[in-house]
Amino acid sequence: MFNLILFGPPGSGKGTQSEKLIAKYGLKHLSTGDLLRSEIANQTPLGLEAKTLMDKGQLVPDAVVIGMIDAAMTNNPQARGFLFDGFPRTKAQSEALDELLHKKNASINVLLALDVTEEELIKRLLNRGLTSGRSDDTKEDVIRARLGEYRNKTANVADYYNKSGKTVMIKGEGSVDEIFDSLSAEIDKRM
Ligand code: AP5
Ligand code: MG
Repeated sequence: MFNLILFGPPGSGKGTQSEKLIAKYGLKHLSTGDLLRSEIANQTPLGLEAKTLMDKGQLVPDAVVIGMIDAAMTNNPQARGFLFDGFPRTKAQSEALDELLHKKNASINVLLALDVTEEELIKRLLNRGLTSGRSDDTKEDVIRARLGEYRNKTANVADYYNKSGKTVMIKGEGSVDEIFDSLSAEIDKRM
């Protein structure tokens, strides 16, 4: 298996690059944000609980997202590898993910971290908010709350994987294709 974490703050391009990477490398895309938005669209109890937090720009509880990832991995036993997008976002999620992969005799091969300035992130998210219909993209105070959660709870996930030498920083500004080439080069070295 080849397992990749595509890491970075809100608006850094995780979703955009994930689409291209799964097409190129045949990995299964697991985005906890997409999974949560689909729960909201289906008006499940989990979705309704998550929506309150997501609308404020806050993280949903670890147990909720870990449960979703566990189920998604179980439902894809034939996957040749997973691309994790927006997960893990806390140390507890990182430890849980390592444990889930360990049960499959697998591990994270690399964490690729997209580096983008806050100014650019806010510009991108407000711009997407004009058309995305995502309630967490329209208000600047909610965008700032998301960036705060990232700084306080998530940024250290990169340090956690760096202890085993798995974290690689990637310049996340420039054209989508340039960034895709940088990501691909790091994957090709390891695959
Ligand atoms: P989630 O859905 O994961 O959102 P996010 O991390 O806030 O990030 P985005 O999806 O907004 O950005 P992205 O990095 O994917 O960038 P994109 O490619 O879209 O999470 C949403 C919420 O769910 C969280 O706030 C939390 O409440 C909850 N949640 C999710 N996972 C969780 C977890 N594990 N634990 C707890 N809670 C969780 O690009 C952004 C924009 O920029 C687009 O318009 C795009 O077209 C544009 N763009 C992309 N690349 C470029 C480029 N190179 N140049 C210019 N523009 C670009
Ligand atoms: Mg995304």
